[in-house]
Amino acid sequence: MSYPELRALVAHARAYNAAHDITGILFYGEGHFAQVLEGEQEEVERLFGRIQRDARHHDVTVVTRVARPRRTYPQWGMAAHRLAEAQFAELVRHLPEGADARPLKARLETFVIESQRL
Ligand SMILES: Cc1cc2nc3c(=O)[nH]c(=O)nc-3n(C[C@H](O)[C@H](O)[C@H](O)COP(=O)(O)O)c2cc1C
Repeated sequence: MSYPELRALVAHARAYNAAHDITGILFYGEGHFAQVLEGEQEEVERLFGRIQRDARHHDVTVVTRVARPRRTYPQWGMAAHRLAEAQFAELVRHLPEGADARPLKARLETFVIESQRL
């Protein structure tokens, strides 16, 4: 995706997610996306249904689904970050629950620091 296309996708996502109280983070790296979505389960599942039907991507998989009493990213809105290919590949290795001992947020922050904000 081009930078303008990414920006348009993110702008749309931020507006929808804010209206539906969904927070999280989206990473893009050389043709691949990884996203964390948090909110009321029903809202998250409805949005995920829309995302799955989006023709701009394919091979959508769920890495992990977790019920938590509160959000990990209440203040993040829909953060969006672009990574270099090698960093994105590294990120994917750190996504599964228990990939390393740190909580997900700590694991992701390393990549946020190395990214370009979208
Ligand atoms: C990787 C990826 C992530 C997306 N994330 C969101 C999101 O968090 N929120 C959102 O509203 N749309 C997101 N979208 C866009 C939706 O897939 C969809 O285009 C949008 O909800 C509009 O759907 P509609 O055409 O059915 O109205 C994402 C799309 C892609 C490709």
